[in-house]
Amino acid sequence: MKFPLRQSRRLGTSDEDIAAAARCLAGGGLVAFPTETVYGLGADARDDRAVADIFAAKNRPSFNPLIVHVADLPAARSLARFDPTAERLAAAFWPGALTLVLPLAPGAALSPLVTDGGPNVALRLPASDLARRLISKAGVPVAAPSANPSGRVSPTTADHVLAGLNGRIDAVVDGGPCAVGVESTIVGLADGTPRLLRPGGLPAEVIEAAIGPLAAPDSDRITAPGQMTSHYAPGGRLRLDARAPEAGEVLLGFGPVAAHLNLSRSGDLSEAAANLFRHLQTLDAEGRDRIAVSPIPDTGLGRAINDRLRRAAAPR
Ligand code: TXA
Ligand code: MG
Repeated sequence: MKFPLRQSRRLGTSDEDIAAAARCLAGGGLVAFPTETVYGLGADARDDRAVADIFAAKNRPSFNPLIVHVADLPAARSLARFDPTAERLAAAFWPGALTLVLPLAPGAALSPLVTDGGPNVALRLPASDLARRLISKAGVPVAAPSANPSGRVSPTTADHVLAGLNGRIDAVVDGGPCAVGVESTIVGLADGTPRLLRPGGLPAEVIEAAIGPLAAPDSDRITAPGQMTSHYAPGGRLRLDARAPEAGEVLLGFGPVAAHLNLSRSGDLSEAAANLFRHLQTLDAEGRDRIAVSPIPDTGLGRAINDRLRRAAAPR
């Protein structure tokens, strides 16, 4: 399936332009915007379909969890549980180039694609006034990876964003060049120990001066860059590339097949990505222990879906 062409309007920083960008985000669109670190490619973090569109626009071969951007501390507290260390870090460095990985709050209602189906969420309150104006006007938490096609460098100007993503996003807010130019520093607090998960714009030494030494990432839980989370693993056994279910199996379908659940009856990869985690979670909740999965084309978002399914099917 071809990626639908999008308008990719270049917007300025007037109130009218920010309002237009905010409406687009709140309505499920893709809007690139500047932060103090790099330009992000934003979408409503509660909207499965919009988040799936981020991966499609970036042409990512795999899903990885995304940072959720908020405009203020109350919004952050509604999405994640802050322990005293998290509160200290937020008080010292937010708004700023620091991302905190924290346990999801009950009722956070984020798309499972944002957390890769895991129990933790990465939160960031950017220092950029423009970014905070946009997020607060949109009134939704904004999932935003860097606004570049997969495998290219993170963009620090609107021209740079359009060079990579023209026709694949709805708009870019042009706020001029980013001041910091490298991504935020990521600190994980999900297991109670502060860990440096990614060095970035806020020096680790500065963080350590505030809260003491940062531990290394928990190496057991990292298999590749960007996979620093405990991934969602279904309880049942998955059989991939199945034309039809065998006795004792239910079919997780794709395309016009008779299936227990269908990722996308019309064969739309973006819809399939949006449904992936929800359907796996439903099958788990139903206690299905043998799940056949229809073949998914290995192009575009299909590569990310297949990557995720292969990992879910791997023996544990
Ligand atoms: O400066 C930045 O952080 C930029 C701007 C746009 O804010 N954003 C950015 O996003 O760099 P991205 O997609 O490159 O960073 C996502 C990374 C993942 O690869 C992973 O390392 C970490 O953040 N991450 C996100 N959610 C996580 C989670 N739930 N658990 C652990 N790590 C997570
Ligand atoms: Mg990136």
